[in-house]
Amino acid sequence: MPFVYFQTFGCQMNVADSDELKRKLEARGFEETSCIADADLIIVNTCTVRQNAENKALARIKEFSKLKKPQCLLWVTGCMAQRMGDTLKDAIPGVSLVIGAKEIDNLDSIINEHLIHSSFYNQEHHSHSSVSDYITVMRGCNNYCAYCIVPYVRGDEHSIPVSTILDTIRARIDDGVKEITLLGQNVNSYNDNGTDFADLIVKVSALDGLKRLRFTTSHPKDCSDKLIRTIAETPQCCSHFHLPVQAGTDRILSIMNRRYTAKDYLNRIDTIRRYIPHADITTDILVGFPTETDAEFNDTLSLVKQVRYTTAFMFAYSVREGTAASRMTDDIPKQEKLDRLNRLIEAQTEITKEIYDSMIGSTIEVMINGRQDKREKFWMGQDNGCKRILVTGEHFNNGDIIRCSVKRSSGMTLVCDTQ
Ligand code: SAH
Ligand code: SF4
Ligand code: F3S
Repeated sequence: MPFVYFQTFGCQMNVADSDELKRKLEARGFEETSCIADADLIIVNTCTVRQNAENKALARIKEFSKLKKPQCLLWVTGCMAQRMGDTLKDAIPGVSLVIGAKEIDNLDSIINEHLIHSSFYNQEHHSHSSVSDYITVMRGCNNYCAYCIVPYVRGDEHSIPVSTILDTIRARIDDGVKEITLLGQNVNSYNDNGTDFADLIVKVSALDGLKRLRFTTSHPKDCSDKLIRTIAETPQCCSHFHLPVQAGTDRILSIMNRRYTAKDYLNRIDTIRRYIPHADITTDILVGFPTETDAEFNDTLSLVKQVRYTTAFMFAYSVREGTAASRMTDDIPKQEKLDRLNRLIEAQTEITKEIYDSMIGSTIEVMINGRQDKREKFWMGQDNGCKRILVTGEHFNNGDIIRCSVKRSSGMTLVCDTQ
């Protein structure tokens, strides 16, 4: 049986794309391996959202091209593959195929074209299952935030038909999946002939056997009252909103082309907290956007302290070729960007710690998703929001939802006992 080795960079969309590719290869007789030396095919699924994301992927591809068996194929897929195209083959000898993110809908024909004549192509094989899975409900993005390369490498936004989504999820549930995360760059603008994202949530949650439903990413400008109400009223929906704010000042939000003000954003947060008081709210923040002053950065800090996010992804601005912001001068010195980033990370880490500490003594529902390797007695899981949990206990199955009491917090993880 031929072996395939996967390395995936970037966001959950890429993880979902890797899973899809994995399933297609498994159906053609491949088995996944964690050992490079065994691999007959190496796939590096790349990200290009910031320059350092590209640097990491390039370094890894070079490393793989040296470590791999001579006859092993090396495929580069995803967003950096889309941006660089076949120049990657010239840059790194050993790369045998480049599949850009926009080509994802044609995977079957690409695989058939490149593997059908090889000895790899053999019997049917069914994919393994896990309890938690990502389902892409829309591809691409039309928002053109000034800093962002995603619309260029992923193409125009389009929604996957409801019937396709429901069929895919039903098949996953039959395979043992208990928790689904619906994915898109901006799931809130989902629309399939009038079925919006709230309607989709109602349809998906009606499927038998689905215990938990999650989704990401929400764009604040499209996060409607209807959607928030629907989530509050749908028991399978987890209490977690990832609502990227990016910046806390109207001037910067406007030149970022985010199309909401800080006040609009805070109004969305109020509505979420009114309907779902214990929701975990998380965000993405970008510091050092061109022309951002220290005072404007401080407004972002104040907003962070006001909202009190459970956690946040925080980044220093990185110029991406072809974007609107790339035509502005990248005028914030690197050291200043890093200083702002560190101040932000420090403030957020403190808030995360306080939120986790405040959970001690409370009762939570945890879905078990695996056993911790090192310390055998701990099981890993997730609460109804976004928090990582360790639970002590002997007999759990992945996908069990159990009631636990929180004993202590390690800052990023809650340690619990079963009740
Ligand atoms: N679709 C999602 C995010 C996609 S990219 C959304 O709209 O929120 C993930 C995050 O990377 C963004 O939210 C942003 O904070 C960050 N990011 C995007 N482009 C960037 C750039 N050029 N430099 C630094 N961070 C960037
Ligand atoms: Fe990028 Fe904005 Fe689209 Fe998110 S919404 S992917 S940040 S352009
Ligand atoms: Fe995701 Fe990176 Fe592409 S964040 S959409 S993998 S550029």
